[in-house]
Amino acid sequence: MKQTFRSIKGTFDILPDRYEIDGSVVEASAAWVELEQTIRNVLSRFLFAEIRPPMLEELAVFERGVGESTDIVSKEMFTVPRLRETYVLRPEITASVMRAYLQHRLDQRAGSQRLFYIGPCFRAERPQKGRFRQFHQFGAEFIGSSDARADAEIIAAMIAVYRALGISDGRLRLNSLGSPGARTRYKSALQAYLARYESDLSETSRQRLQSNPLRILDTKDERERKLLDEAPRLTGFLEPDDVAHFDRLTGFLDDLSIPFQIDPLLVRGLDYYSRTAFELESDELGAQSALAGGGRYDGLAEVLGSSVPVPGVGFAAGIERLFLALQSRGAHMAAQAKPDVFLVALGSTAERWSVRHAQELRDAHLSVAFDTLGRSMKAQMKEANRLGAAMAVIVGEQELETRTALVRDMRVGEQTSVPFDQLQDYVTRRIREGSSA
Ligand code: HAM
Repeated sequence: MKQTFRSIKGTFDILPDRYEIDGSVVEASAAWVELEQTIRNVLSRFLFAEIRPPMLEELAVFERGVGESTDIVSKEMFTVPRLRETYVLRPEITASVMRAYLQHRLDQRAGSQRLFYIGPCFRAERPQKGRFRQFHQFGAEFIGSSDARADAEIIAAMIAVYRALGISDGRLRLNSLGSPGARTRYKSALQAYLARYESDLSETSRQRLQSNPLRILDTKDERERKLLDEAPRLTGFLEPDDVAHFDRLTGFLDDLSIPFQIDPLLVRGLDYYSRTAFELESDELGAQSALAGGGRYDGLAEVLGSSVPVPGVGFAAGIERLFLALQSRGAHMAAQAKPDVFLVALGSTAERWSVRHAQELRDAHLSVAFDTLGRSMKAQMKEANRLGAAMAVIVGEQELETRTALVRDMRVGEQTSVPFDQLQDYVTRRIREGSSA
């Protein structure tokens, strides 16, 4: 048998029709387009402009940007060796956006920049429901402002996308990770506290105790969670400016009627955050409960080589998880477009006629399909039906002779003869009038 190929584990094809793969439903391409359109519409009301960075970046962009000790960089990156360099498939887009911002001196165009993106990301995680190796994010970055209003704008824009799609019950968890000084002092305090219980910690947490103790706060292990009840809290280490920034942000969220829960244990899996960190969760997602996440990253620009600090804040959301949430509430999803007209041609002269008339009707903005397999009239009508065509236009030798086509409105099952020179007007009118015609 000849070898056939399958898409790589954790990746999937988006097809004209929805289908199921490894327990996940992949929506039809039309549903992806519709969703992306909603995202674009909502984010453009906030005046975010689209940016499309490349999917390949230098390894160092993420090593430095996201952090070498994070799981994303140390375990999950897809690297692409090339002669002397090593590139990576981006595991996220924030570091790319900041790299582009600095490269193109976007700071010189305006005081601040509002950018958004939609596109694939790559992480070599163990695939499961809601977790893929190639997945899709949409997100927005507000760069150049350290004001808490920018944080509020980012959260408001994120919530607005979900609300536009009928999802308004996501849980927003919010925390302040403080400025770097506060975090360094807190890290030492947390390390000192947890060191006393080192033998009770899991292997992963023991490693993190040295490299990235804050990530231990994220643990799902019940015993470790108990230990953390008594651990020092980051809140107690924040500087007055951190507290003022956080209070302003929560004030704005109250003004915007965006509910949130302050969660002092919320830390994120990327190292670039300072001050604001948040996550939007949904119960409908199972183990992978995060719909979206984000926060402020005032130190990222300098880590990526900027000689001046550039404040920024943003969010990113998983599109597959958004689809999961929509599916679990039975939302109607766009499907493959149906043809306005299916041309049924019988005989070679009629076939030529149909090719020409398909073009004329398409020029008149109708969508048109026809058979190319030389099928019988019955099979062609069946195909028109299967595709959900609104009208079938039937032309054989007799119709060519009398220069009239047989037109069937498939929606109501009515059939009538229409002269060729009136065909376009007739079909256009019926389509415009809808199925009630
Ligand atoms: P993140 O939390 O790593 O943040 O990812 C954001 C979202 O992407 C997650 O909440 C989740 O919905 C989705 N996601 C992540 N990994 C996977 C996966 N393997 N399969 C499916 N979906 C996934 C970031 O990426 C930051 N760049 C967010 C940000 C923007 N912070 C500031 N600006």
